[in-house]
Amino acid sequence: MKRQPSSSPRSTKRRTVSIIGTGSYVPEKILTNEDLSRMVDTSDEWITTRTGIKQRRIAAKDENTSDMAAKAALKAIEQAKISPKEINLILVATATPDMLFPATACFVQKKIGATKAACLDISAACAGFLFGVEIAQQFITSHTYDTVLVIGADKLTSITNWTDRNTCVLFGDGAGAAILRHRGGSHGVISTHIGSDGQYSDILFMPGGGSRCPITRDNVDLNLATIHMTGKEVYKQAVTAMLSAAKKALEQAGLSIHDIACVIPHQANLRIIEAIADRLGIPLEKFYVNLDRYGNTSAAAVAIALDEANRSGRIKSGDYILMVVFGGGLTWAGTVIEW
Ligand code: ACO
Repeated sequence: MKRQPSSSPRSTKRRTVSIIGTGSYVPEKILTNEDLSRMVDTSDEWITTRTGIKQRRIAAKDENTSDMAAKAALKAIEQAKISPKEINLILVATATPDMLFPATACFVQKKIGATKAACLDISAACAGFLFGVEIAQQFITSHTYDTVLVIGADKLTSITNWTDRNTCVLFGDGAGAAILRHRGGSHGVISTHIGSDGQYSDILFMPGGGSRCPITRDNVDLNLATIHMTGKEVYKQAVTAMLSAAKKALEQAGLSIHDIACVIPHQANLRIIEAIADRLGIPLEKFYVNLDRYGNTSAAAVAIALDEANRSGRIKSGDYILMVVFGGGLTWAGTVIEW
């Protein structure tokens, strides 16, 4: 039964923006911790106790970020019962675009036949999907667009250094999507909070492959176009930023954490989620967790989790849900939705 909120949720938005369909896709190939222990000096025990991850999905060589994104999008479109031609805007949050340009969103547009949409990518690392939800909401509440497709998709295994045990055990591939639209009624996005701190841009980044350090014949062996991470610092910042984002989103919504039926967090590390549950004073069971099966799929993670929670009945109509994410940049975001 739905709890009564501790105070009236408030929405200052001119139009209610609802998620009317979700979809997700993960590649078939599974890489287990056992498999990894044959590639680098690690063990199932180390990975499980430090991260909670048991396995992850790996995209095929010819399976691009846009392929996964399009598959997730088509499922969301089917659930929303709309035609791709009704989509006005496609936002793809990704750190692993098919190419530096054009935008991966343009490739998705072609693959799903959303011929009337404007398309752009969002670069906010793992936090990108909720940045997309905020942008979509702004366009819809301002009456600029009616229907927006937001996708989080990443092929992190294409930028993973498979000889670095500090990072290669953490990541996987996948995509998640949502269709946002003004539907009328009260159900929808109640509050969003997004933030960034460029001071910490050097604790999680990919140094090569951009204009600052293009990959050349001379530097190709330096693994520059792979993820570089200071794990302990990322862990610390992740807990602080996600807690703060959660509290701000709740405050803006006029709700207490105890009004929330389900928290859907970024799926990076179970210990990060446990630390947040502890500091928010709620049991771990309130969190939707699938990182044991997929690892950290970056921008896709929270979107895949949302789709699974939706399709499995873990979240039900009228529930208040809190989504909270963190990524390189640093970037973070919190969103409260009445489902
Ligand atoms: N297998 C075995 N040993 C390992 C492995 C591994 N895969 N990786 C590191 N170690 C070793 C280290 O070399 C170190 O050994 P040493 O003591 O001999 O030097 C020891 O384990 C401890 O290493 P720490 O880095 O201190 O381990 P820690 O407990 O901090 O856990 C981890 C590392 C899991 C990376 C943790 O810091 C973490 O989760 N950080 C956050 C990472 C994250 O969430 N990144 C992504 C967030 S944003 C985004 O999604 C892109």
